[in-house]
Amino acid sequence: MHLDQDDERILAGEQGETRQKMLELLVALGKVFGAERLVPIKSAQVSGASYKTIGEYGLQWLNTLDAKAVVPAVLNPIGMPRDRWDEMGVSKEFSAKQMAVIAAYERLGIALECTCTPYYLRKTLYGDHLAWSESSAVSYANSVIGARTNREGGPGALAAALVGKTPCYGLHLAANRRPQVVVAVAADTAGWTIADYGALGYHAGKLVGNRIPYFTGISPERDQLKALGAAMAATGAVALYHVADVTPEAQKNRYDLAGIETIPVEGSEIRKLFCDVEVEAVALGCPHCSPEELKNIALLLDGRVVRKPLYVFAAQGVIEANQEIVNDIEKCGARVFADTCMVVSPVMEEYSGIMVNSGKALAYVPDMCGAIARIGSTKECLDVATE
Ligand code: F3S
Repeated sequence: MHLDQDDERILAGEQGETRQKMLELLVALGKVFGAERLVPIKSAQVSGASYKTIGEYGLQWLNTLDAKAVVPAVLNPIGMPRDRWDEMGVSKEFSAKQMAVIAAYERLGIALECTCTPYYLRKTLYGDHLAWSESSAVSYANSVIGARTNREGGPGALAAALVGKTPCYGLHLAANRRPQVVVAVAADTAGWTIADYGALGYHAGKLVGNRIPYFTGISPERDQLKALGAAMAATGAVALYHVADVTPEAQKNRYDLAGIETIPVEGSEIRKLFCDVEVEAVALGCPHCSPEELKNIALLLDGRVVRKPLYVFAAQGVIEANQEIVNDIEKCGARVFADTCMVVSPVMEEYSGIMVNSGKALAYVPDMCGAIARIGSTKECLDVATE
């Protein structure tokens, strides 16, 4: 693996033990995956930020590190909203541990933006090399933006943030970004919502596994693409997908699809996922809401009274930039929380049934929250929350 003089100096320990160890980790990863070199990255997104997922050993390991990030880096959602943990019902004990994790990352120069939608906060461009780790963010970066990132583990993303580079293999290379399976959707998709696209992703992820799918027969918009990719990354291991005539690489390249397996998907297979089960709470914002989704929730609520717990999740920066809309949502009795989400917060474990508008949440809520998950459109979710 080719390393430049700067890399060699880091490996010799000239920039401290932490950076040395981090580069050793990146080189080892690169060797395992056959990388010929490291590639400079524009940003990093580090998972392993919720105390619920990293626990005491993870916290202790973070506290042994001593270096600063050299590229813009943010965190994945944590177990609670930093400023409103009490209001969300998070225990003092959990809050203290979570704040210790946050403090450890802050010492490492990681910005305390805890979100799976970092692309709403910092411009990420076509062709940018990244080291992101949350699966839906990775899918969006690769597929919707046309940036290049593998799905990094937490330590790999942190190492990349501290060194400013990542091993150049996998989805960093154009040759590995071609479609491997066609998903031919035969359905009337006019009027499909983000929940329909989330359900399609939930279903398709199981069919395609870890291959790169090329969709035909659909025309999703940005938030719908976000929902599709997030769900496919949850039920499958899809880090990149293409949609004919929609996603940037499918628009730019003429892929030769001859000889590639085609999987047909019908609308009835998607509708089957929309079951009517009793729920105790409703949670929106998986992945974290875009400004347009917040606006839509405010419009649909329009002064109605929320009667079941209604949680909305979004990045802190998105909330601050749309504070009036957020105030309108909260006036109806919903709560709009930053930094956390329905899957990583321990609070959601108290409900036995949760309604969501997300295919990814449909996949994760049963295991991560121990609750039955029901999927519906944003409007259906709000109807249930206000009935
Ligand atoms: Fe984001 Fe949490 Fe969903 S990290 S994609 S809101 S499970």
